[in-house]
Amino acid sequence: MHKRILVTGGAGFLGSHLCERLLDSGHDVLCVDNFFTGTRRNISHMLDHKSFELLRHDVTFPLYVEVDEIYNLACPASPIHYQFDPVQTTKTSVIGAINMLGLAKRLKIKLLQASTSEVYGDPTVHPQPEEYWGNVNAVGLRSCYDEGKRCAETLVFDYVRQHKLAAKVVRIFNTYGPRMHPNDGRVVSNFIVQALEGRDITLYGDGSQTRSFCYVDDLIEAKIRMMSTGPEVTGPVNIGNPTEFTIRDLAELVLEITGSKSRLVFEPLPADDPKQRQPNISKANKVLDWEPKISLRDGLIKTIAYFDGLLSSAGKTAAIGAIRV
Ligand SMILES: NC(=O)c1ccc[n+]([C@@H]2O[C@H](COP(=O)([O-])OP(=O)(O)OC[C@H]3O[C@@H](n4cnc5c(N)ncnc54)[C@H](O)[C@@H]3O)[C@@H](O)[C@H]2O)c1
Repeated sequence: MHKRILVTGGAGFLGSHLCERLLDSGHDVLCVDNFFTGTRRNISHMLDHKSFELLRHDVTFPLYVEVDEIYNLACPASPIHYQFDPVQTTKTSVIGAINMLGLAKRLKIKLLQASTSEVYGDPTVHPQPEEYWGNVNAVGLRSCYDEGKRCAETLVFDYVRQHKLAAKVVRIFNTYGPRMHPNDGRVVSNFIVQALEGRDITLYGDGSQTRSFCYVDDLIEAKIRMMSTGPEVTGPVNIGNPTEFTIRDLAELVLEITGSKSRLVFEPLPADDPKQRQPNISKANKVLDWEPKISLRDGLIKTIAYFDGLLSSAGKTAAIGAIRV
C-alpha cells in the first residue's frame, strides 16, 4: 500500500538510505532534518524525485504534518558528534521522542524508534540479549546519548501501554556503509580514510579485540520488516551483524581492498575499550525472519568506493592507486 512516510534524521547516514529504500518501494517520503550531522550531499540524488520532500526542522520543536508512518532516527550517533553539545543530544532523544510519539498518537499511526546497543552501556553479559537491562553510567560523558536513548525507549513503551500506540523499538549495533561520516572517529571510517590517504593505520592494543559490523542495506531491511509487523510486536529487537572480526582482520582487509601501502601502528589500549561487542539477534531472526546477508568484504568494497569518491571530490586525491574491486 502506498504511504506517506516521515523519516526524522533523513539526511544522515542511515536516514538517507532509508529514504532511498522507501522511495524505491513507491512511497512518498518526508525527510526532516536540522543538518547537525546530516548533509544535503547525502540526499542530493533524491531532491528532484517527485515523491521526496525535505523539511529543515529540529525535532525538539513540535511538528504538525500529515503522514502514515514515522521512523524516528534524528540524533547524532558517534561520540564526537553527540558529545559536542550533550544537552542538545539528550533533548533530541527525549523531547524529539515526545514530539514524534505525540504526532503518532494524534494521527493514530505506527512509529519506529531507532535505539542503540549503547543502552546496554558497558555490558556484563555477552552477547547481549534484549532481556539484559544493561550497565549504564548516568553521569558520564556518554550518558547524554545512552540515557537519552534509554529514556526514549521508556517513552515508547509508556505510549504503547498508556495510549495503545503501535510503536516499536529497534536497538541498532555498529553499522557501516556509504555516507558514514569520514571523521566521526569510528573504526571502519578511520581505517578506510587512513588507508586511502596513505597514512598509518592506528590499532589499539594488539588488535585482537573483536567487533561485529552490519552493512547498511541489511540494517535497513530489518527496519522495514520491523515496521511492517503488527501491533503485538513492539520490541525492543536487536539488529546488527553477529559475525565477529578482530580489529586487525578489519585493518588488513581494508589494506587489501584499497591496495594501500599504509603501515599498521600499535598504540596502548584505552581503559574503556571493550574486548568484545556482539549482538544476539535470535529475536530478530524469529520475529522478523531476518539475518544479515552482506559479507564484510562486499560491504567494505562499496564503502571504500564511496570514501574514495568523497576524498577525491574534496580535492584530497587519494595518495594510493585505484581501488581494487
Ligand atoms: N550508525 C550506527 O551504527 C548506529 C548505531 C546505533 C544507533 N544508531 C541510531 O540511528 C540513528 C541514525 O544514526 P546515523 O548513524 O545515521 O547518524 P547520523 O548522525 O548520520 O544521522 C542523524 C541525523 O539526525 C539529524 N539530527 C540530529 N539532531 C537533530 C534534531 N534535533 N532535529 C532534526 N534532526 C536532527 C542529523 O542532522 C543527522 O542527519 C540515530 O538515532 C542513532 O542513534 C546508529
